[in-house]
Amino acid sequence: MVSPALILFSSLLFHVAIAGRTCPQPEVLPFADVVPFKTYYLPGEQIQYSCKPGYVSRGGMRRFTCPLSGMWPINTLKCTPRVCPFAGILENGSVRYTTFEYPNTITFTCNPGFYLNGTNSAKCTEEGKWSPELPVCAPISCPPPPIPKFATLQVYKPSAGNNSMYRDTVVFECLPHHAMLGNDTITCTEHGNWTELPECREVKCPFPSRPDNGFVNYPAKQVLLYKDKATYGCHETYTLDGPEEVECTELGTWSAQPNCKASCILSVKKATVLYLGERVKFQEQFKNGMKHGDKVSFFCKNKEKKCSYTEEAQCIDGFIEIPKCFKEHSSLAFWKTDAWDVKPCIDE
Ligand SMILES: *[C@@H]1O[C@H](CO)[C@@H](O)[C@H](O)[C@H]1NC(C)=O
Ligand SMILES: *[C@@H]1O[C@H](CO)[C@@H](O)[C@H](O)[C@H]1NC(C)=O
Ligand SMILES: *[C@@H]1O[C@H](CO)[C@@H](O)[C@H](O)[C@H]1NC(C)=O
Ligand SMILES: *[C@@H]1O[C@H](CO)[C@@H](O)[C@H](O)[C@H]1NC(C)=O
Ligand SMILES: *[C@@H]1O[C@H](CO)[C@@H](O)[C@H](O)[C@H]1NC(C)=O
Repeated sequence: MVSPALILFSSLLFHVAIAGRTCPQPEVLPFADVVPFKTYYLPGEQIQYSCKPGYVSRGGMRRFTCPLSGMWPINTLKCTPRVCPFAGILENGSVRYTTFEYPNTITFTCNPGFYLNGTNSAKCTEEGKWSPELPVCAPISCPPPPIPKFATLQVYKPSAGNNSMYRDTVVFECLPHHAMLGNDTITCTEHGNWTELPECREVKCPFPSRPDNGFVNYPAKQVLLYKDKATYGCHETYTLDGPEEVECTELGTWSAQPNCKASCILSVKKATVLYLGERVKFQEQFKNGMKHGDKVSFFCKNKEKKCSYTEEAQCIDGFIEIPKCFKEHSSLAFWKTDAWDVKPCIDE
């Protein structure tokens, strides 16, 4: 089978052959235009190649005449892209590029502490120029910082004339009796502004209340303010539970609320106990009573194993629970061995 298309094509070739030798449509070269551009040319007709905008000729013929042979001469014209000026280095920044040829675009970024003064990309134009103009990386700086109300500058050193540079810091301090809300330090950011300013507020504390069985002293003033102090004490035989000195905190409360706790009266007449890791005579060590919070360890006997162990007891607000295992012998029972004289049990 012979396809109808093939028959049509063959007859067309035959027709051209007998009509005299015309030149065919000329070769299409990359990045070049041909004028005039037609499907065939009669012998003697001229064509001209020219490089497209943005491309330049690197030698080779441009003008051709259709010869009687009907065959275009071999074309050696070469069009290559225009090259823009070298732009591979950006001071204090970097450039991303493949080549600096038309029609490529290159992009810019600045190092930390610098900002782009100009555009972040530029294109190599048909004319072989960068558009828009190449940017520069300019150092970031912050103007002198504002000073919060009730605050003073503690550390401030402008490093760029009257301005501060990226990452420079400024430290504030509140006026006396003012508490700071936020960070005392601000930093010059990459946006050329400062991080959030702290706030200084006047803070009042209520008058501290007197503890039962004790007293409290504080400044004789109309109001008590941040950092003001109060001191506590207890009447005899009472012990302060908490610090002697408290301070008005930034929350408007006192740092602690000490109480007075009763001492313990001794119910044991004779015993050797462990106190702060030492063996002491209980009745001598605590002849004035045990203070609130004091801890001792009593010795007890393990009758089966004939050894001794200890149990702890603590004076809590006038009350101490003597361990049940502790046995106090009458002073008349001289033949009995006290637990503290028995060898200690060895824990397993
Ligand atoms: C910025 O560039 C200049 C010149 O190349 C150089 O001396 C300087 O150290 C750079 N600054 C920074 C912070 O990189
Ligand atoms: C930013 O660029 C413009 C134009 O090139 C120039 O006039 C200006 O001084 C530059 N600013 C800085 C801070 O470099
Ligand atoms: C800094 O500020 C002072 C007062 O405003 C001004 O007189 C001086 O010229 C400034 N210096 C610089 C380097 O900008
Ligand atoms: C205050 O800010 C500095 C710097 O940003 C930071 O190092 C510091 O931890 C901050 N302090 C507090 C209490 O948040
Ligand atoms: C600093 O400037 C940036 C960008 O404009 C903004 O997002 C930020 O909120 C500013 N910071 C402060 C503390 O004003």
